[in-house]
Amino acid sequence: MQRPAASGADSAEVKSYLRLQQRRVDAKLESVMPPADTYPEVVHEAMRYSLFAGGKRVRPALALATAEALDGDEEASLQLACALELIHTYSLIHDDLPAMDDDDYRRGLPTSHKKFGEGIAILAGNGLMTLAFQLLAEMPGAAVPDSVRLQVITHLCRAIGAATGLIGGQVMDLVSQGKSYTEEEVRYIHSCKTGALIEASVSTAALLCLAPGSARQRLSAYARKVGLCFQIVDDLLDVEGSQSELGKGSQKDALLEKATYPALLGVRRSHEIADRLMRQATRELSFLGSRARMLVGIAAFISSRRY
Ligand code: IPE
Ligand code: IPE
Ligand code: MG
Ligand code: MG
Ligand code: MG
Repeated sequence: MQRPAASGADSAEVKSYLRLQQRRVDAKLESVMPPADTYPEVVHEAMRYSLFAGGKRVRPALALATAEALDGDEEASLQLACALELIHTYSLIHDDLPAMDDDDYRRGLPTSHKKFGEGIAILAGNGLMTLAFQLLAEMPGAAVPDSVRLQVITHLCRAIGAATGLIGGQVMDLVSQGKSYTEEEVRYIHSCKTGALIEASVSTAALLCLAPGSARQRLSAYARKVGLCFQIVDDLLDVEGSQSELGKGSQKDALLEKATYPALLGVRRSHEIADRLMRQATRELSFLGSRARMLVGIAAFISSRRY
């Protein structure tokens, strides 16, 4: 039997929630990031350049909405949210490198390697990721027992690692270029390169809140579907969007012969799959009742976004 879907916040409410969380996260990031004049200046300047260039802050918003639904500690979840955004920004800097997608624009600005050169871009990415784990290690002790902190760090390491995590997905994305692939293979790539960090955004927040295993399983199922949906929509935006809307180049995936949903199944079918994933994700949250409102709303935003 299908579970009834929890009802969600409407699109205007979600957009204002995203703006609010963006401001909170950016203020916290500002307080944890070394100033641009910290020696050696160039890497700190490069780290801040990509981090504060904009960005929807979707992963932090998912973590914060999860923590709110579960009555989690605000300070600890904000610190987690910042760590997630640092990791995401590192992945974007490396994704854009000439050796990977070779992109010139990101978040409305020239990419890190265009501005600072490849060496500094690589190191700025590494610096952001390292700082993310420092933040997690330094989460306020009173709110987060060490055993939970370790679980959070382990979950995140797996999510961004080479075996079924972000790095593994990026590897498969690269080696699949120009080759034929099945729907199962592109689903795997997308679930790893993008889905795993989105899943971890929700799951690590639920871990921090000491949510019971059954709730964590449902939330993880929600987030896995949202994560796959996120990358399918990203593929669609590459086909249907413009650089001015997206703040990054478009029409690149076909040129690089990337494994994508629209290339394999067409635009219409890809939209249908993204919509279906969003509805399935929403149903996973019925156990939360009205507390699921924002998570349901964010899933709808992700599936219908234009940027
Ligand atoms: C872009 O992510 C890269 C993918 C994982 C598809 P976002 O669309 O979240 O990028 P920002 O953070 O808003 O710039
Ligand atoms: C990026 O996927 C995934 C990661 C950064 C891990 P894409 O290569 O499709 O992202 P965009 O389109 O460059 O933002
Ligand atoms: Mg890529
Ligand atoms: Mg890319
Ligand atoms: Mg893309």
